[in-house]
Amino acid sequence: MSRRKVGILISGRGSNMQALLDACAAPDYPAEIALVAANRADAAGLERARDAGIATQVVPHRDFPDRQSFEVALDAALRDADAELVCNAGFMRILTPWFVERWHDRQLNIHPSLLPAFPGLHTHERALAAGVRFTGCTVHFVRAEMDAGPIVAQAAVPVLAGDDADRLAARVLAAEHRIYPLALRLVAEGRARVADERVLIDGPACGEAALLNPTD
Ligand code: GAR
Repeated sequence: MSRRKVGILISGRGSNMQALLDACAAPDYPAEIALVAANRADAAGLERARDAGIATQVVPHRDFPDRQSFEVALDAALRDADAELVCNAGFMRILTPWFVERWHDRQLNIHPSLLPAFPGLHTHERALAAGVRFTGCTVHFVRAEMDAGPIVAQAAVPVLAGDDADRLAARVLAAEHRIYPLALRLVAEGRARVADERVLIDGPACGEAALLNPTD
């Protein structure tokens, strides 16, 4: 089996990166991590990647005069590593249309809400303030608009009595760690295809049962 080479972009702790690394450790997983790149030298995930024996590169955005020259360097790092797919995993830089177009339908992002609800920051505080009974997380193909693009996978996570943003974030993060490896698998296997800006999935999908909260 040939494995698709993946570059992961991080800015921080890298727990989603770790979930992808762990998935790639399975011999039958259809992707391998060719590079972890960070825009900050202090991104904690870099050390986790090095510990796992993965090549890392820091591309510090502050060292570049503008967004485009930063992105040219990032793009070069990914290409030098022979990356075929890019996974943003807590990568907190907005990408220009130039970069997004270069990786069109080959770049994924994970976001801690059920998009299109709550794009941007402070998703859990906003979900709690809105009183939604479910929130969740989304893996989607990257488009120029922030936190938007064809959706590959989502997990619905209930909001429970007594939740604060931290408790809710922890429950959503556990779901993130499940859906990112699942979504990357579908994309790497060619089972998730973009058609008309929506994703078609070949093979088993979700059951039909509705999720209720409250349950009765
Ligand atoms: C994750 O919750 C991810 O969904 C979020 O940042 C966190 C990174 O955690 N991403 C965004 O908000 C992107 N809009 P991690 O570094 O432990 O994976």
